[in-house]
Amino acid sequence: MIELPAPPSLATPSTQVQTSYLIGEQADMLHRGSNTEWLRAASLDFDSYVEERVGVRERWGVPSELFWFTSHEYYIGSLVIRHTLTEDEGGGHIGYHVVYPWQRQGHASQMLRSALVKCRALAIDRALLTVAPDNLASLSVVRRNGGVPDGTNHEGDIRFWIDTSVAN
Ligand SMILES: CC(C)(COP(=O)(O)OP(=O)(O)OC[C@H]1O[C@@H](n2cnc3c(N)ncnc32)[C@H](O)[C@@H]1OP(=O)(O)O)[C@@H](O)C(=O)NCCC(=O)NCCS
Repeated sequence: MIELPAPPSLATPSTQVQTSYLIGEQADMLHRGSNTEWLRAASLDFDSYVEERVGVRERWGVPSELFWFTSHEYYIGSLVIRHTLTEDEGGGHIGYHVVYPWQRQGHASQMLRSALVKCRALAIDRALLTVAPDNLASLSVVRRNGGVPDGTNHEGDIRFWIDTSVAN
């Protein structure tokens, strides 16, 4: 396994991880059998691609911020924090993915843990996460971080609340 130069952390999207980001996302898309066409534009003008993703922006009709989980030049995954819930609570407060080459190494669990600290700073006292019942990996990530189940949403995803006051 690759030894990272430093413990990874949630960072603002940056061109510093360009190569690692593009290769990681391409590997992940191919593994999932998803369309890779968007990577062409991203690779042709990565500066603009990053520029469009920095800072708090209106996405899904609510203010949200995107973070990349990185260690120096290594990109591991992405996480978004919605500062307020959308009307249908779709996706909850936090969404994330770890690209395939870095999965099953504890990164998602650590990413979510770090995101809960950011939520607390944003005065989100209870963070909502929604997970498909067959997504065993994400269910484990959420439970590991103290997720308390609270029924299902309109898409059949399990709703979990996490108390952010204990996040550190
Ligand atoms: C869900 C996801 C983020 C997990 O990332 P990860 O970095 O591999 O997760 P971790 O290494 O922190 O693993 C957490 C747990 O899930 C388990 N796990 C990881 N991948 C798994 C898989 N494919 N099947 C079953 N369990 C899995 C790990 O063994 C670990 O279990 P443990 O808590 O018993 O030790 C990643 O698989 C992913 O990006 N999936 C696609 C996008 C997605 O589903 N996002 C979440 C939407 S709610």
